[in-house]
Amino acid sequence: MKILLTGGAGYIGSHTAIELLKQGNEIVIIDDFSNSSSKALDAIKKITGKDFKFYEMDYKDREKLEKVFEENKIDAVINFAGFKAVGESVKKPLNYYINNVSGALVLLDTMKKYNCKKFVFSSSATVYGNPEKVPLTEECRVGGTSNPYGRTKLMIEYILKDIYTSDDSWDICILRYFNPVGNHESGLIGEEPRGIPNNLMPYIVRVASGKLEQLSIFGNDYNTHDGTGVRDYIHVVDLAKGHVKAIEKLEKEGKGLYIYNLGTGIGYSVLDIVNAFEKSTGQKINYKITERRPGDIAECYADSKKAKEELNWIAEKNLEDMCRDSWTYIKNQKQE
Ligand code: WQD
Repeated sequence: MKILLTGGAGYIGSHTAIELLKQGNEIVIIDDFSNSSSKALDAIKKITGKDFKFYEMDYKDREKLEKVFEENKIDAVINFAGFKAVGESVKKPLNYYINNVSGALVLLDTMKKYNCKKFVFSSSATVYGNPEKVPLTEECRVGGTSNPYGRTKLMIEYILKDIYTSDDSWDICILRYFNPVGNHESGLIGEEPRGIPNNLMPYIVRVASGKLEQLSIFGNDYNTHDGTGVRDYIHVVDLAKGHVKAIEKLEKEGKGLYIYNLGTGIGYSVLDIVNAFEKSTGQKINYKITERRPGDIAECYADSKKAKEELNWIAEKNLEDMCRDSWTYIKNQKQE
């Protein structure tokens, strides 16, 4: 298969590119480097020993996107492109709706023009809003998302459902990510959030490396085993392998719209993560307990049975792997 990865130089996209190439697929990457760098492209080539076509472009640029489809016989598309910082989305909602939703519309319309109808969408557990129950199944209620970022993901899910209802020759797979963490074991590739990280693990590794002074733990009065927020952290390589399985499903069976939770099914609290990080890396994490972060929920973790049964996919890496691989990347950056 020749697969187009929009945002393929990004954190999830670059790790997925590695796994797709390892499985013998051909890939084409488009990326505007708004939240990534060409370093990731070099790392993909170094890790896999394989080459691929790359276009530096904005995926919303219809003319340039049509050129990609003119020059490459694309069999399927995985859409990673999109802004993803929850806090930023509250401050700049228009940027998020234009880039995430309008971008997806241009992409899907261009795919239709070139009769390319296999589509994997990078969605998020954030579409569940405040979970009706945990562990979350794909049948759980969606909506009530507390920020524009989450609403863009949900809107695109609705767009995909409407497209499929109108034309069932589309093969669509919606993947709802829980909390992606970690990096490729080589330490050559990793998450590079711009500025001060919003997410927990990138913040922890920067405290461990001395780049940041102290971790603020946003509240310890939640109704959880230790009062701090519980999430389903999943190693980014496991997440990447979930995309390979999704592509295989669309290639073999297709003819459907499928939705899968990609999580481990295990919920860990903030303090669990801090303790596991200290244990697996030997790095002490300086932290203080502060007020809750507005919009945060107490608990969110997946029931990932459906992905196991229908994609033959299960997360294999454990919390120690996630902490160790997060730290390896930052250590490598310090040495550069
Ligand atoms: C995890 C836990 C915080 C930072 C969001 C998006 C989701 C996905 C991942 C993009 C919570 C606590 C965090 C800190 C803390 N985004 N925390 N101190 O909010 O579960 O999910 O990011 O794909 O779609 O919704 O992730 O890592 O921000 O927070 O105490 O400095 O860590 O309160 O309990 P979240 P997170």
